[in-house]
Amino acid sequence: MEYPHWNIQLLEEDVLNNSIISSHADFVVSAFGLKTFSTAQLEKLAFEINRILKPNGQFAFIEISEPKWLLLRLLFMFYLNWIIPIIGKLFMGNSMDYKMLGVYCSKFKNCEKFSTQLKANGLEVRYKKYFFGCATGVMGYKK
Ligand SMILES: C[S@@+](CC[C@H](N)C(=O)[O-])C[C@H]1O[C@@H](n2cnc3c(N)ncnc32)[C@H](O)[C@@H]1O
Repeated sequence: MEYPHWNIQLLEEDVLNNSIISSHADFVVSAFGLKTFSTAQLEKLAFEINRILKPNGQFAFIEISEPKWLLLRLLFMFYLNWIIPIIGKLFMGNSMDYKMLGVYCSKFKNCEKFSTQLKANGLEVRYKKYFFGCATGVMGYKK
């Protein structure tokens, strides 16, 4: 893929062991890539974000989350644990991959812990709920 009007270099790497040099990135963004990470991996990711961003460089992450309101949590987890795997089976021929979504979401909970880890690394962080907590996000910048 080419981006003739932008200076973009594509790397296919493990973000936790990347080759990006320090203070080099303008932005770090990811959608739905946090939920499978352990606490230690999130800690390493927070460190890496602070390391690779330029001063004033920005980051934004979003992830599916467990809503705090009980009724919504029950409905949303039912949707993740049962409806999504059925849709996956019907349209993709595989329900097992999609069954893991509820498992990962229950373990991950939300972006609150990651927000604390980012702050501990010196980043300016804002935490945000979407769809009444069915997704949460963190965004901010390197001071
Ligand atoms: C659920 S997918 C989301 C993909 C896409 N962002 C979207 O919204 O459709 C999670 C993505 O995180 C990536 N990912 C997970 N762990 C990673 C790691 N250690 N380094 C780089 N990418 C990782 C996976 O390769 C996968 O593409």
